[in-house]
Amino acid sequence: MLRMFSRNLCPTLATSILALSTMILPTQPILLAQNLDNEISVESLKSAVGNRYKIGVGVSDNIPTRKHDWQLLTSQFQIVTPENSMKPQSIQPREGEFQFDTCDKFVEFAKENNLDIVGHCLVWAKDDRTPDWWFVEGGMPTSREKLLERLKTHIDAVVGRYANDVSMWDVVNEALDDSNDQYLRDSIWTRTTGEEFIVKAFQWTKEKDPDAILIYNDYNNEYPGKLAKTLRLVKALRMQGAPIDALGIQGHFELDAIKYDALESLLIACRTENIKVVISELDIDVVPRSRWWAEGGKYRDEMSKTDPYKDGCPEDVLKRQAEQYAHLFELFNKFPDVIVRVSFWNLHDGESWLNYFPWNRTNHPLLFDRNGQRKPAFESVINSWKAK
Ligand code: GLA
Repeated sequence: MLRMFSRNLCPTLATSILALSTMILPTQPILLAQNLDNEISVESLKSAVGNRYKIGVGVSDNIPTRKHDWQLLTSQFQIVTPENSMKPQSIQPREGEFQFDTCDKFVEFAKENNLDIVGHCLVWAKDDRTPDWWFVEGGMPTSREKLLERLKTHIDAVVGRYANDVSMWDVVNEALDDSNDQYLRDSIWTRTTGEEFIVKAFQWTKEKDPDAILIYNDYNNEYPGKLAKTLRLVKALRMQGAPIDALGIQGHFELDAIKYDALESLLIACRTENIKVVISELDIDVVPRSRWWAEGGKYRDEMSKTDPYKDGCPEDVLKRQAEQYAHLFELFNKFPDVIVRVSFWNLHDGESWLNYFPWNRTNHPLLFDRNGQRKPAFESVINSWKAK
């Protein structure tokens, strides 16, 4: 209705109606953001970010049928990552049996809504994230040649199909080890080929999609041990002729535990190395989880019974979260020459993976609440782009 009005109204009157409407409907401004004529534009992430970097989000693979999510998605974001349907276990669960259906629909939906697409991910370098068939050949462990041949077949099929639609690929996900002393994660991938599968994955992706931005994606890259390994990997890949364009910093942060200085060091190092960065899966967990893995998992029992914010997130927590998002974006904004995209992981709090991982709890990690309404963190992010 406002849209009908706004088409024929002078800008001042239209602006007053808009102001009035936001007073009457304080929780509704996002609804007004979509499809409005230029003279009335309600603030959205994608308009406020300007041309610093793209603003994206990882969304449910079923977005084409999730009508209730469309408005929030299309009014706020420019680029989408399918949450699961392009991962190896979804798209080729058995050798040669490609399941493109869900992905095709996702891609079609994104194109119809002028959303760019991140292809995620061609290799997830963990044994439990790779279907078993990859690693077995005639009842024996797969040879290096066969593993690489399967990798090429996979990349040719997936990248070949979506090269015209995808603008950035997460080529390899999570190949680095978390411990201090080991470089690559111990997996059948690395035991069989060392670094070679990563090099080849980049080369074969480039052959099929020469124009896309090719990304190596990982978590905790800013942690002391992993930071050095991340840079070592980037240099090693380049030395071996792997066409890597960007480092993906997943950015699954925890409230009160963000290592801003280390992140800044990593961003500076990327600038020096002349490699771009994407913040690929951003969220700030308000029910911190890292103790889950501490001391042999001895806190898990107790933690799995906690759900402190099931009745809502307290104001002081929302405020701290907003401050920490502000701090993060103030940092990102210092690197518009390095960062090409910042993507959140999931559309709103109700859809976050952190409601389930690593135990079921009611989480509030994103900019929009369960009803798709803006949280204080949303204002922080918008304000970070306004500050001089
Ligand atoms: C990793 C993966 C993502 C997603 C998240 C959790 O970060 O890269 O695809 O699975 O874990 O949802």
